[in-house]
Amino acid sequence: MHGKRVLITGASAGLGAAIAERLAHDGARTALLGRDEQRLDAVARRTGAVTAVPADLTAAETAAGAVDEAAAALDGLDAVVNNAGVFRLGMVSDGEISDWRDMLEVNVLGLLAVTRAAIPHLRAGVHPLIVNISSMGGRRVAQPAQGVYAGTKHAVHAVSDALRRELHPDGIRVTVLAPGFVRTNLGAYIRDPQARANMEHGQTEQGLDPRDVAAQVAHVLASPPDVHHVEIALISSRQPPG
Ligand SMILES: NC(=O)c1ccc[n+]([C@@H]2O[C@H](COP(=O)([O-])OP(=O)(O)OC[C@H]3O[C@@H](n4cnc5c(N)ncnc54)[C@H](OP(=O)(O)O)[C@@H]3O)[C@@H](O)[C@H]2O)c1
Repeated sequence: MHGKRVLITGASAGLGAAIAERLAHDGARTALLGRDEQRLDAVARRTGAVTAVPADLTAAETAAGAVDEAAAALDGLDAVVNNAGVFRLGMVSDGEISDWRDMLEVNVLGLLAVTRAAIPHLRAGVHPLIVNISSMGGRRVAQPAQGVYAGTKHAVHAVSDALRRELHPDGIRVTVLAPGFVRTNLGAYIRDPQARANMEHGQTEQGLDPRDVAAQVAHVLASPPDVHHVEIALISSRQPPG
């Protein structure tokens, strides 16, 4: 891990902030990406990141510029953790199109924009790799109102499978990390108060500590170059297996 140059998206809060903290603690040099400049700067200062690059991933050009900025500050890139994501609930029959757009734009298009911009830097990196944060919802659909979110996370698995093949000749490894509930504020933007309360309850009662998920990212990044983690899925032992 020592000196590994890592870009982490969605690092201003929750799991991304925990990943930033753990990787820097283990000796990585980190660049943090997120929209909220103040929160991002605070995490960067607290964790000793090399740089913070504020960017909205729904704007592909902005995302690409931020990746280049991060690579310039780190003097290259060895790894990208595509962690930024949004979660909304709603059935297809009565869901909000703006919610679907938010999830598709960040969880799928944002991840693609960051990845495309990062590939040239990773090609020049040392034992390079990409970690894409999916969800247990990317492996199976737990409830009807989660369908569109789960669809975006299924897309993360599919895109990662393709990328793993595409980037194999370049020696770039691609890992999918799929957690169940994690104790973060991911559910804060759920419109329906009851659904929001249910999500918060699930996260509180059955959620993994973000630091335990971050430890898995650290494990992937610190693995020998010959080891290619295809997928890691994890839930709290308090969460009933679906
Ligand atoms: N928490 C869970 O139970 C859980 C379970 C499975 C998977 N996950 C996945 O874990 C990842 C992290 O989520 P979390 O739980 O840590 O949620 P969170 O606390 O809400 O953090 C989400 C992060 O994504 C960033 N983000 C959102 N929209 C963005 C945009 N348009 N451009 C740039 N950054 C953006 C946010 O930063 P700004 O607000 O500053 O932009 C924030 O740093 C997500 O991919 C999520 O799907 C979470």
